[in-house]
Amino acid sequence: CPLTELPHPAGRLPILGDLTSADPRRPTQHELAMAQAGLGPIFERKLLGTRIVIVTGAQLAAQCCDENTWARCLAGPGEVFRKIVPEGLFTIRTSNPLWGQARRVLGPGFSQGAMRSYHQAMNSVADDLLTEWGSVDARRVDVHQAMTNATLEVIGRAGFSRRLGLLGDADTDGSDTTRFVDALASILTWASAQSNDVPVLGTFRALVRTPHAHTQIAIARRFVDTMIADRRNSQSASGADDLLGLMLTVPDPETGELLPDTNVRDQVLTFLVAGHETTAALLETTLHYLAERPELQDELRQEIHGRGSFDYGAVTGMRKVRNVLNEVLRLWPPVPGFFRLARTGQTLGGYHVPAGQPVFVLALAAHRDPDVWGSRASEFDPTRFEPAALREHPDRWFHPWGTGPRSCIGMAFALHEATLLLARILDATTLSAPEPLDMHERGTLRPSPFRMTVRERERNG
Ligand code: HEM
Repeated sequence: CPLTELPHPAGRLPILGDLTSADPRRPTQHELAMAQAGLGPIFERKLLGTRIVIVTGAQLAAQCCDENTWARCLAGPGEVFRKIVPEGLFTIRTSNPLWGQARRVLGPGFSQGAMRSYHQAMNSVADDLLTEWGSVDARRVDVHQAMTNATLEVIGRAGFSRRLGLLGDADTDGSDTTRFVDALASILTWASAQSNDVPVLGTFRALVRTPHAHTQIAIARRFVDTMIADRRNSQSASGADDLLGLMLTVPDPETGELLPDTNVRDQVLTFLVAGHETTAALLETTLHYLAERPELQDELRQEIHGRGSFDYGAVTGMRKVRNVLNEVLRLWPPVPGFFRLARTGQTLGGYHVPAGQPVFVLALAAHRDPDVWGSRASEFDPTRFEPAALREHPDRWFHPWGTGPRSCIGMAFALHEATLLLARILDATTLSAPEPLDMHERGTLRPSPFRMTVRERERNG
């Protein structure tokens, strides 16, 4: 069948399309609900003249991940982000030689050896977070604020050898950093609103929002420029081999060239954004699930204590903590989907997709597809990720990190950071009484700010 015959939401109107059934504030959760309500593994949404093809079935999603026939495509909030960071790793086109150059230069910064070297910086963030939380016996903690600060500190300390002053340090430029953090949040919200707003009406709204966004972008760029200038002016050897050190000093092994200065700025901003928003989302959602499940906290504590320490090797062996993280990534992938483009004409679920047609692969829905994940696909069950269960079901589609050469460069970084922070939190505290989970969308899928009770734990030694 031609794509024009794809199923679509009920109540479509001439010219307006599916405008009345759209949910610009929660677009991907709305698409998940439509898939589950029976629109099926592939359908379309149309807002005025703009059509988006949405793939929600795991088998079709797997087909779109075949690099021979499909390629990565930048659209949605990512495309808006391109206006702010045109040549960062996330936003640059694969055909631009700078993409390959940056991946080759930065690759060593995400190797196993690099993770080992970031471990201490990540652990120091856990120390500071727990010091903040541990000062009273029991307190209601703002989880959003705490995880924003912790994940930004991790990328600042591990990636850029710089304490950002978000977790109670004295020797830092707190106010500039706070302005920068607020600017990042506004920019993400603006980019998401730009891409999800309804056409025409959205253009008018953008006219109102955009001047504020430009001010925030200028604040973020100034912060990054200062960070780079400080490093260039520094006489100390500290940070020589962190991410910024690699960008400034290591020539591309293929071309022998250093990354251009303007590109370094784009990369630093990319890492500060990509390196914290998604990992904070993962940690917050996981803490929420744990706070609701004291028995799961105990089970993980047993594993954590069985490892005997929090050194690098002990943390990489915390398999049950990893299973919980994977299950959260499955149910609530912080990047809820990604765009793919047909390299040549394709047949997808019986529909003809012409060459050059983008489709949105909604991982949020494909991760819950009962055809491959079973009838309890929407329930939280970390045992799905035990090796035996995975061996039994090799077709289980799981892509929270994207796919192919453009998949997440920061996967090992995020997983090590999240495992370590969770293990340290569970060792030192008990969690309970979280406010309800409500997922907010701004390109990412992240819990709306919520509080939970954190109690200092009596340790057995
Ligand atoms: C790309 C997810 C953490 C840096 C991606 C993509 C996904 C993703 C799905 C591909 C998007 C697409 O195809 O359009 C996540 C998740 C994270 C996380 C779920 C945490 C839980 C990080 C961290 C960093 C990072 C910690 C850096 C320190 C990047 C970069 C890209 C990327 C630079 C673009 C890579 C390229 O196109 O070559 N991420 N990410 N991410 N991520 Fe992550």
